[in-house]
Amino acid sequence: MARLPAGVVVVSSRLDGEYRGMTVSSLVSISLEPPMVLVGLERESATRAAVLQARAFNVSVLTRSQEFLADRLSGRAPAIDPSWSTLPHHLGANGIPLIDGCAAWLECRLDQVHEAGDHDLFVGHVESVAAGSGDPLVLWDRAFWTLR
Ligand SMILES: Cc1cc2nc3c(=O)[nH]c(=O)nc-3n(C[C@H](O)[C@H](O)[C@H](O)COP(=O)(O)O)c2cc1C
Repeated sequence: MARLPAGVVVVSSRLDGEYRGMTVSSLVSISLEPPMVLVGLERESATRAAVLQARAFNVSVLTRSQEFLADRLSGRAPAIDPSWSTLPHHLGANGIPLIDGCAAWLECRLDQVHEAGDHDLFVGHVESVAAGSGDPLVLWDRAFWTLR
């Protein structure tokens, strides 16, 4: 799978009033009408538990200049506090945070959960979208790239 290029996003949600978020490369678009996306979240992740509690998740599509955030939200850099006080963000209409300065944002209502090995597949109904700007952050061959 390292040879398959993938976009890099942050999936976020809320658990007991605290924010959770993780770097994810498994986001795919699966339906246009209604608009639906799918993400695979590992069973042990805190974000998975938050999505199950909130029954909703948001997606922040990272740009090349946000590579450091992909590291921070994957446990490769100092952890982010539960109020995201050091992470520039804004809240979606669903009260779940979105990272500032991204290429795009999605707000999703959890529609289905499917068990798949050590991950769960979360199908989200996209309730709102917004486009930002910036070159995409791409994962390929276990490293970050961009398209130009
Ligand atoms: C580039 C990249 C892509 C990742 N993609 C996924 C993914 O699609 N699904 C997943 O469960 N974990 C993925 N991870 C690992 C999670 O980001 C990592 O386990 C994270 O620490 C989980 O955070 P949490 O326990 O706070 O929710 C990825 C990590 C990196 C660096």
